[in-house]
Order: sequence, then structure tokens, then C-alpha cells
Amino acid sequence: MRLPGLIDVHVHMREPGAIHKEDWDSGTAAALAGGFTTVLAMPNTNPPVTDAAGLAVALRAATIKARCDFGLFVGAGPDNTDQWAHLKTQIAGVKLYLDQTFGSMRLDDMTLWMDHFKAFPEALPIAVHAEGRTLAAVILMADLFQHPIHLCHVSRREEILLIRQAKDKGLPVTCEVSPHHLFLSTADIQRIGSGRSEVRPCLAAPEDQAALWEHLEIIDVFATDHAPHTLTEKDSDTPPPGFPGLETALPLLLTALHEDKLTIDDLVARLHTNPRRIFNLSEQPDTYIEVDESASWEIEAQHAFTRCGWTPFEGRAVRGKVAKVVLRGRTVFENGHLKTLPGSGRNLFPA
Ligand code: DOR
Ligand code: ZN
Ligand code: ZN
Repeated sequence: MRLPGLIDVHVHMREPGAIHKEDWDSGTAAALAGGFTTVLAMPNTNPPVTDAAGLAVALRAATIKARCDFGLFVGAGPDNTDQWAHLKTQIAGVKLYLDQTFGSMRLDDMTLWMDHFKAFPEALPIAVHAEGRTLAAVILMADLFQHPIHLCHVSRREEILLIRQAKDKGLPVTCEVSPHHLFLSTADIQRIGSGRSEVRPCLAAPEDQAALWEHLEIIDVFATDHAPHTLTEKDSDTPPPGFPGLETALPLLLTALHEDKLTIDDLVARLHTNPRRIFNLSEQPDTYIEVDESASWEIEAQHAFTRCGWTPFEGRAVRGKVAKVVLRGRTVFENGHLKTLPGSGRNLFPA
């Protein structure tokens, strides 16, 4: 089966600052192996990307190493509202961290949120990490300033119900759900281990997980929130939150397709068409993937391209495999092997 090249609007590449977890080479290799031909990368690197100079550093690494196409987010900080007018054509969007996560980019003061909303150029996509009541607050802000927002990794019943209500009223919101919140819940924590299960938003209750599946029509995008940390880090006394996800998303979703939990149109809309629309990405000629939908296999970290060395889905039986990836006319991945070199990925937002 042929599908358009998948677009992951939410990945953490760890470069600069933590390339022992992942870099632009290993991360985009994982993307291709998972069927993703475009990734949009988050700014909570070390140092974080919050201005033109930081963007230049991250872009240099991406340009040299990426094997798939990419765009970068710049984070909203306490004193960078003056950046947006100038950076708007060079970035995939702005990231607003409004709840606690990995790194130190959280904005608590709502006057700062308002300053940013006033400064955002009209067409610039705004991706938001907000949970629970913070989600309600930022939806209000999107309405007040009439600026669309994209809500990242929605995980709970109360959140998806609120978003349904907001969409019913015509408010300018879209949302994504990550595969780990569709395929894992608190019921899996004991099996995975408590440190390894740490992720933000946390794994939610089985009722929350069920609510996401019940409200599939409210979910615009599936995004992995690929957030690699090494096993040593995950098994330490202070486990950082995050799961790798690029190489397991499509097989898990194809397995759900096989189980009639969603259709192929549902899948293509959320992994290609809607991401492209929400983030203003052009259609790419000759960019597609070939999927062997009948291949049965078990997920094993040892065969993955991500550098982090583990997956919360270890041993899971899945059905459906990426057989081939074609990026702008060139075969870049085939039968488990990369066919492209670092640096062949393109910046989709060149200055
Ligand atoms: O679990 C998470 N890990 N959630 C986030 O929001 C950030 C991410 C990371 O960068 O590790
Ligand atoms: Zn987040
Ligand atoms: Zn994230």
C-alpha cells in the first residue's frame, strides 16, 4: 500500500546539548524508518531555541545532519516577544510551554502569554503544551486574540471534551494526540517500570485512553512527541519524562487499522493532510512511503535507529511495516536500510 510521506509535527531532536540521547542524524534516521519524511522539532534543547542566534545554531546542526525534511519551532520565553515578526518566515511555528515538562521553558505569568499573543503574526502556527485547566485558559486566550492554536499531546477525557466544545463554538483550535496516550495507560506502568513510564503529560487512566478513541473525529493530528532519553537516565533516581516514538507510531496505528479501530482515511488525514494544512507545508511531489500492511513483527529497541536504546512498546506484536520511503523522488529507506546520507534533508523554512 502506498501512502503520502508522513509528517510528525512534534519531535525532540536533542541537538544542541544532549546528543548522547539523539542527534539530527539518528533522529531523522528513526523518522525515515518510521515512515516520516518531514519532522517539526521542538525548542527545548540545551540551550533552548528562543531567538535568531539560537535558531541559527540548531539549524546548522539540522542542515548538516538531517536525512529527512524539517522545520524548527522557537520557544516563547519571558523576554522574546520582539522575535516573531522577524523570525516568522524561518520557523515552523512558536512553542508555548504552559505546564511543567522536560527543560525550563515554562511560562506561568498570563500577562506574558498575552504579550506573546499580541505579538504573534497572523499566519504563524502556535503549538501549546497545556494540560487540564491550563488548556481551558489558553483556549480562552486563543479566542480573545483570535489567533489559532494547536494543542499538543491531548491525553485526558476532560481535555478532549473541552476541545470538542470549543470546536463546536467555532473557536480556532486544533489538537494532536500521541500514540503512547492511545496505546498505553496507567494500567501499563507496572509492566514498563515507573521510571521508564515517566512522560508529560503522564500516562492517563484507561477511561481517558478510551475517551480519546471515542473522540477520534476531534483529533486533527497524530504526533509522536518523540522524546528520547537513555535507559540509564530513565532507570535513574531522577528519570526524565519522555518516550521515543518515531519508529513505533505507524506500526501501532496500522495494527489499530487492522483491528478496525480506525480507517486508512483517518490515518492519512492525521499523519499527513491535517499536519500539512495546520502548519502551512507545501505538497511535495514524489514523496511517499510503501507499507507492507500484512507484515507481522514484534517491536524491539535493539533494531531501532533512535540512539536512546529502549521503547515502552518492547515486545509488542504489531502488524504493518514500512517497506520503502521515497523523498522528493529518491529512495531514502528500503527493507530496513537507510539509503541516504546525513545532510540530504531540506529545511522547509529557509530564510
Ligand atoms: O515527556 C515529555 N518529554 N514531555 C514533554 O513535554 C517534553 C519531553 C522532552 O523533551 O523530554
Ligand atoms: Zn509537551
Ligand atoms: Zn514534546
